[in-house]
Amino acid sequence: MTSIAIIGGTGLTSLEGLEITSKETVSIPYGDPSGSISKGKLSGKDILFLPRHGYDHSIPPHKVNYRANIDAIKQLGAEYVIAVNAVGGITDEMQASTLSIPDQLIDYTWGREHTYYEGGDSGVEHIDFTHPYCETLRKSMIAAASQADIAVFDYATYAVTQGPRLETPAEINKYERDGCHIVGMTAMPEASLAREKDLCYASIAVVANMAAGRGVGEITMEEINLNLETGMDRVRSLLSAVISSL
Ligand code: HPA
Repeated sequence: MTSIAIIGGTGLTSLEGLEITSKETVSIPYGDPSGSISKGKLSGKDILFLPRHGYDHSIPPHKVNYRANIDAIKQLGAEYVIAVNAVGGITDEMQASTLSIPDQLIDYTWGREHTYYEGGDSGVEHIDFTHPYCETLRKSMIAAASQADIAVFDYATYAVTQGPRLETPAEINKYERDGCHIVGMTAMPEASLAREKDLCYASIAVVANMAAGRGVGEITMEEINLNLETGMDRVRSLLSAVISSL
């Protein structure tokens, strides 16, 4: 059984170096995942890969079927899940193209299908979320980054917004007052669904742009794509390093 799954975000719809051996479709009760799940080998390890926004990047953050994605990778045998998330940098240190391994989050999303426990036959459960990210995997990623000399921040509180629009500077100021370092649209409900399915889930957050009001002028897609190119090169190196170490 394959035990490591990677969920790619904006800027990571394919995984260079992944030798794909099959594309898996899984029948699940929550609708369709973002695409078939690629099974293959990376750094000598069996890997599952799913791009959250679809292989053609056509699914916006609020329309991602997070329940289907997490259930599908669980059914295919995942134990560890490494999520990659493009984010905006709120605080000074979170400059463009930097990487962080978030340790906390605040969920500002609404209206997303966010639990497997809907009552009735599916039951009522209240998962513990003191550590929203799996500390074992976070530590492995931080150690692998240090060994491979890849700069990462070993903390970040991630403000999860509904999107798809970007924020106002006033909203960003509020998130900073709330203690957030980065802002993005995809960490939730992915992280809590992973916990509900007992997966060891952690994230690599890549700063695509300075958040609204934190940089010079308005945020452009050109700027985001340019910064993500550099950031994703670092992510690929980190993925290889951490996968070899797991
Ligand atoms: N805000 C929210 N989500 C994002 C951003 C941002 O500035 N950049 C990339 N994803």
